[in-house]
Amino acid sequence: MGDLYRFGISLDRELIDAFDLHIGAQGYRSRSEALRDLIREELVRKKWTEGGSVAGAIVMTYDHHKRELVNRLLDIQHDFHDIIISTQHVHLDHGNCLEVIAVKGPAPSVEELSTALKVLVGVKHLNLSVSAAE
Ligand code: NI
Repeated sequence: MGDLYRFGISLDRELIDAFDLHIGAQGYRSRSEALRDLIREELVRKKWTEGGSVAGAIVMTYDHHKRELVNRLLDIQHDFHDIIISTQHVHLDHGNCLEVIAVKGPAPSVEELSTALKVLVGVKHLNLSVSAAE
């Protein structure tokens, strides 16, 4: 973290009471911590909508008995090799696999990869979670 900068904010009593209640329930120990997270989240969202660079993970489960699915998944991942940092494969049970794909790159490419995988027949669930790349 860089130098700390302090500033004051004026808010309606009702708003700050609701905020305190909300962040207390989430486990935050101070307003500063909660505000820092909110600001970071907003900046990541801005990067995402503006097509900036993001880092994140695609978590997916799929039916590995589905014909040709594993080959399609591999072909697509090779098409996006420039934004895939690593993949982790877990054999959940006899027929199901869990895959975690760590990604880093322009938001539009990350979204394109995520969508390409999500629409495949046999992919049961897919979740994309992103953070700021730097
Ligand atoms: Ni497997």
